[in-house]
Amino acid sequence: MNEIAFIEWFLRDIEPYVREKYASRATVAVSSKEDVTDLLTEVDLSIQKRFVEQAGDRFPGDLIVGEEGEYARYPEDPEARVWLIDPIDGTYNFVRGLFPVFGVSIAFAAGNTAVAGGVSLPITGDLFLAESGGGAYRNGQRIQVSTSRRLEGACLDVDFSSPSERMDLFRRAEGLFGKTGQLRCRGAAVVSLCSVATGDTEAYLHAGLTPWDFAAGEIIVKEAGGVSSRLDGSPLRLFDPCAGILMSNGALHQDILDNLQP
Ligand code: 2AM
Ligand code: CA
Repeated sequence: MNEIAFIEWFLRDIEPYVREKYASRATVAVSSKEDVTDLLTEVDLSIQKRFVEQAGDRFPGDLIVGEEGEYARYPEDPEARVWLIDPIDGTYNFVRGLFPVFGVSIAFAAGNTAVAGGVSLPITGDLFLAESGGGAYRNGQRIQVSTSRRLEGACLDVDFSSPSERMDLFRRAEGLFGKTGQLRCRGAAVVSLCSVATGDTEAYLHAGLTPWDFAAGEIIVKEAGGVSSRLDGSPLRLFDPCAGILMSNGALHQDILDNLQP
């Protein structure tokens, strides 16, 4: 099984477990990390544990990084073969039953960039997959970013992290927010990135993501014809220091950057 086939197999295999746990979420054990609204559930830990076992068996020697516990680390050699898992992106939404908007995200990276990625949205049953040079797919159907060129007619998704990062983004993005047709705030980066890839929205902006939040979503957006960068317009590389990301349909990318204060 190659990397993309393994990603697809794992995401399909874990889906019934996540659906069942979501349906009975009142009984799921929940705790907080440093920030009281940064939640951790037994479901995040179980998914990540299963992934570590399965990927470790199939790809011995590859590094695994992930959102939870000791796996929340950066590789010594960022160019090496690395697996990235975000067991539940949108844990707060999962726990509170919001929308329900959350997903499981897995990417395989080499050379400090994702070369294969998958996102499962277990409640809708949607599976997004992309491989470098091979296009992006939703449930086997090719997907493409939108062709919108005007901010006034665009839908921009934004998520916020800690209060300090949030206030800084408000300051920097005031002009952008004032010009953009529609704004959404959904609390799950992978869902927002897959929406850019399908053309349902035009762009996604976040001031504080970590590599496991965006690795799979980034390759899905890029293979659907979109563009990614840091907020100063410089190239986004997985393990480089990064204070904010923008991913878009490409056509609107520079316009969005031009409307952000430094
Ligand atoms: P999570 O649900 O896995 O924590 C919401 O702002 C989006 O940003 C979610 O995708 C969330 O991922 C991610 N995120 C990453 N770091 C965050 C942080 N420190 N605070 C809030 N959200 C964070
Ligand atoms: Ca996450």
